[in-house]
Amino acid sequence: MKATILNAMWLAMALSVLYGCRQKSDDGEENISARAVRMKVESQPVKAELTSPPLVPKPVGNRPPQKLIVDMEIIEEEGELADGVRYVFWTFGGTVPGSFIRGRVGDEVEFTLKNHPDNKLPHNIDLHAVTGQGGGAEASFVAPGHQKTFKFKLINPGLFVYHCATAPVGMHIGNGMYGLILVEPAGGLPKVDREYYVMQGDFYTKGKHGEPGLQPFDMQKAYDEHADYVLFNGKVGALTGDNRLTANTGETVRLFVGNGGPNLVSSFHVIGEIFDKVYIEGGSAVNRNVQTTLIPAGGAAIVEFKVEVPSNLILVDHALFRTFNKGALGILEVSGEKNHLVFEGEVLEGIYQPEGATIQSTPVSEAGAEPAKPLTKPEKMQLGQRIYNTACFACHQPNGEGLGEAFPPLAKSDYLNKDAARAINTVLRGLSGEITVNGKKYNSQMPAQVLNDQEVAGVLTFIYNNWGNNGTEVTEEQVRAQRK
Ligand code: CU
Repeated sequence: MKATILNAMWLAMALSVLYGCRQKSDDGEENISARAVRMKVESQPVKAELTSPPLVPKPVGNRPPQKLIVDMEIIEEEGELADGVRYVFWTFGGTVPGSFIRGRVGDEVEFTLKNHPDNKLPHNIDLHAVTGQGGGAEASFVAPGHQKTFKFKLINPGLFVYHCATAPVGMHIGNGMYGLILVEPAGGLPKVDREYYVMQGDFYTKGKHGEPGLQPFDMQKAYDEHADYVLFNGKVGALTGDNRLTANTGETVRLFVGNGGPNLVSSFHVIGEIFDKVYIEGGSAVNRNVQTTLIPAGGAAIVEFKVEVPSNLILVDHALFRTFNKGALGILEVSGEKNHLVFEGEVLEGIYQPEGATIQSTPVSEAGAEPAKPLTKPEKMQLGQRIYNTACFACHQPNGEGLGEAFPPLAKSDYLNKDAARAINTVLRGLSGEITVNGKKYNSQMPAQVLNDQEVAGVLTFIYNNWGNNGTEVTEEQVRAQRK
């Protein structure tokens, strides 16, 4: 009897040593890829659903591993970096970022890369989800008018970047050749209400930010890492105005966020929210209650948050000149009932004047600066558009349509068209308190803009001569008069 018990104990110890080592290391994650390699795939091949940003294919759910056919076409095409700024993008699937690919651990992927006959250059693809030479780069190198097929198995779960890896690699990526592939774990990611695809990239143009016309890639600026544009989804305004993301209060939103680079690291942040969960660097480790997450060039993160109150959440790179001056700004509009327990909003406003303080007045233009020569109206319009696209569009939106209850419209605005002097004053000194625009009340705060007389005249002339406004040409003299 005693011997039997001892034998059983010995056996149990031996087994725990044998199996325990394998199981306990690395929180059980260590065997995922090893297990995935052995996974049998018996189904017929299934064509992968590919989607254009900001949409993602439907979740894998509970399905077993399968053979996944991915068919992707490379297209070189002219598009817009910003309104009026043309650029020749090189794309995976016709969009920047490229088509979103979604599979699961254990899937066997048969990937066909087609290089459109009208393209000028050879390309290839390096998928960070691939274990193998160059992530598939060598196997997929393909000339215009040709196609290549290669195969691989998805053995690690996570959110991975793919990109072109043809020399000069930085230039191919800088022209838009990147995207995301999601490899879901067995059983899939937890269910959420909304999923979106957002990818940051930095762009380098011969002209400076906002300069209209067709802008060639600038190799020297790329080399110096002096980006003219930092963008979500390849265009200023790709996620604002009619293109904004949407959700309803009470929903959980999951963003698949990638960074194509080629150079800059993203400090990804959503103004007005806290990430309940972040899958750090797109891997399996989850951090909670995060304000800003770093997304390296060639990396990704999955962020999730429940939206509790109606608001316009603002997606930014918190290196904020990139957001307010170089374009990295998106909107997630949350609709639904207010929740006063979560956010009460403004409850009181009063005058604050410490004893002995004088009210500080207007910003003054740089002393001693040479008076610039007056601009023609077309020059003013051009300057004005540039100022608008950097200083104004984030709130008033690309076509002056305004934003929700926060920012009044400038398009067909009775408030604006009635009084140019008041408009000049608003730009110079800012505006707070309630106003009525086109019959609707607004009560927000516009900061004073630090612009010189020429710039104020330019931006107001641009606004007055667009979107159904009355065509007023604002002069520098008028601005000077208001400044006094
Ligand atoms: Cu390429």
